[in-house]
Amino acid sequence: MKNILVIGSTGQIGSELTMKLRTGIPGSLVVAGYIPGAEPKGVLLESGPAEVADVCNAKQLAAIVDKYDIDTIYNLAALLSAVAERLPLKAWDIQMNGLLNILEIAREKNVAVFTPSSIGSFGESTPKVGTPQDTIQRPSSMYGVTKVATELLSDYYHFKYGVDTRSVRFPGLISYTTLPGGGTTDYAVEIYYAAVKGEEFVCPIAAGTYMDMMYMPDALDAAVAIMQADPSKLVHRNSFNIASMSFDPEGVAAAIRKYIPDLKMRYEVDPVRQHIADSWPDSMDDSCARAEWGWAPKYGLDEMTRDMIENLKKKLL
Ligand code: SER
Repeated sequence: MKNILVIGSTGQIGSELTMKLRTGIPGSLVVAGYIPGAEPKGVLLESGPAEVADVCNAKQLAAIVDKYDIDTIYNLAALLSAVAERLPLKAWDIQMNGLLNILEIAREKNVAVFTPSSIGSFGESTPKVGTPQDTIQRPSSMYGVTKVATELLSDYYHFKYGVDTRSVRFPGLISYTTLPGGGTTDYAVEIYYAAVKGEEFVCPIAAGTYMDMMYMPDALDAAVAIMQADPSKLVHRNSFNIASMSFDPEGVAAAIRKYIPDLKMRYEVDPVRQHIADSWPDSMDDSCARAEWGWAPKYGLDEMTRDMIENLKKKLL
């Protein structure tokens, strides 16, 4: 992993992953891929090359791979779960046709590919607690359908053509740098913003709805570690369960109230998001990731909450 293209470099994961790769991998060249309307700014723009990289434009992607002699692509272009329910055809186009473009380039030009999967790749019939690595994946959301298909297609390109595809199933990701947009787990980010701003938080997910969540630094570590893992140790590839914490809205509110006791929260449940959340695991079993490439998260709910509040105070107040 030396010359890297990050597609979706200005998104929730990409904005931080691009910087982590630029600063953390000696000798690396990291191209920030973006789509018009989501241009990189500030340090992201100033710290390395940037190129328009639309997953739906195979020629454009191939030209970038040639120009920078790219050996690894982080494919982070996606519509999140709630927005994908509104725009299912667009979600399919970006997540599936986009992936196919990338995998074909990877096959021709010998490029490794990371395309994240998600807790969204599971559905109602999946065991909810301690969700195993290998289990039933019959999601009912378009987001989930594309994530299962992403896993299958990525494995297919590995087994059939030897393309070095690897991936993790991200939980809901929580960060203070770039907001997510249109996801079911976004509430777990937004509650921190409301708490720090002293605003009442209106929660779209019902009390008692547990989902896996993760602090962004752990998610970034996972994205780098999986691509650096010794391939001979990988029994699985697409895609690994990774987990660090699981909570419901009451749990995260209680964790925040240790630092901001007057946080107020009321519920206005969004039926679309609730339906999706109800179909996802409560907590995944990540023992394969731990055994095959040494996955070990650093942040629990309390450590994350302290860090989120400290950094959001600097950012917002
Ligand atoms: N965070 C994503 C969503 O809520 C799940 O991977 O859509």
